[in-house]
Amino acid sequence: MPRLQGKVALITGAASGLGEGIAKFYSREGCAVIIADIADSEGQRVAKEINDAASSSSSHPKGGQDNYGRAIFTHFDCTQGAAWKEVLQLAISTFGQLDIVVNNAGTTFHKKPSVEVTEAEFDKVIAVNTKSIYHSVVEVMPYMAERRAGVYINTSSVAGMRVRPGQVFYGGTKGFVNTVTQGLAAEWGPFNIRVNSICPLRSPTGLLEKFSGVPDSEEERERFAMSVPLRRMGDVDAIAHAAVYLASDEASFVSGVNFPVDGGRLAV
Ligand SMILES: NC(=O)c1ccc[n+]([C@@H]2O[C@H](COP(=O)([O-])OP(=O)(O)OC[C@H]3O[C@@H](n4cnc5c(N)ncnc54)[C@H](O)[C@@H]3O)[C@@H](O)[C@H]2O)c1
Repeated sequence: MPRLQGKVALITGAASGLGEGIAKFYSREGCAVIIADIADSEGQRVAKEINDAASSSSSHPKGGQDNYGRAIFTHFDCTQGAAWKEVLQLAISTFGQLDIVVNNAGTTFHKKPSVEVTEAEFDKVIAVNTKSIYHSVVEVMPYMAERRAGVYINTSSVAGMRVRPGQVFYGGTKGFVNTVTQGLAAEWGPFNIRVNSICPLRSPTGLLEKFSGVPDSEEERERFAMSVPLRRMGDVDAIAHAAVYLASDEASFVSGVNFPVDGGRLAV
C-alpha cells in the first residue's frame, strides 16, 4: 500500500531541487501534488514528468504501481498572502482537499561576510524563507484545524542549528524556521496537526554554489564530503525519503521535530 495514498500535498519551490524530489516521491506514494513555484517552465516540466510517469505506470501491462498521484503546476509566490489564499482554493477545487503542506521554497545570497549582504538581499531571504511561513500559517492552519487533520513540513537546514561564516542571515532564517516549527507544533497539536521540519545538509541543487561560494566541481564536493562523518554530501533522495516518512502515518506521533538529514554533520 503506497504510504500517502489518497492524500493531497502542496509543495512550494517544487520546480527544482529538493522540492522536485519531494513531489516525485510523494506522487509515487499515491499523493496528488501541487507544484507551486515562481519558476513556470521548470514547474511545468516537473508536473509533466510526474503525470507521464503516472500514465506509463498505470498502463504498463506488468503493473508497477498504478496508483501514482497526479500533479498540477501553479505559478505561486510564497511571499504573497493572496497567493496562499488562492492555492488553498486551488487544492480544494482540483483535488477536494489539502492534507499536507511542504514549505520548501527557499533562497539565499552568494556566500559572503554579513556586512556585504545588501539590504535587498537581506529583505529577500527574510521574505522567502520566513515571512512565507507567516502567510502559510494564516491561510492553512484554520483549514487544517477545521478538518482536525493536517501535516505541515518546513524545509529548514543544518544551518538553522549551526551557522557558519558567510551564510549568517540565511542561517538565521532557518533558526526562525526551527523555533517556529516547534511553536506551531505546540499550538496546533490539539487540532491534530503535526508540524515538523527537515534540516538538510548541503545538497546538489540550484542553491549549491551560493552556499559554498565557489564553482561546483567534483573536487569541491569531495572536499566538503570529508567534513561529514558519512563522507558524502546531502542528496535529494535522502531528503525526499525523510519528507515521505514525516508526511506518512508512520510518523503519526512525531511532531515538533527539527530532523537533521545530514550524514552526521551536526554530531561533529
Ligand atoms: N540544497 C541545499 O544544500 C540545502 C540545504 C539545506 C536546506 N536547503 C533548503 O531547501 C529548500 C529548497 O532549496 P533547493 O536547495 O532545492 O534549491 P533550488 O534553488 O533548487 O529550489 C528552490 C526553489 O524555490 C523556488 N522559489 C524561490 N523563491 C520563491 C518564491 N518566492 N515563491 C515560490 N517559489 C520560490 C525556486 O524557483 C526554486 O524552484 C530551501 O528552503 C533551502 O533553503 C537546501
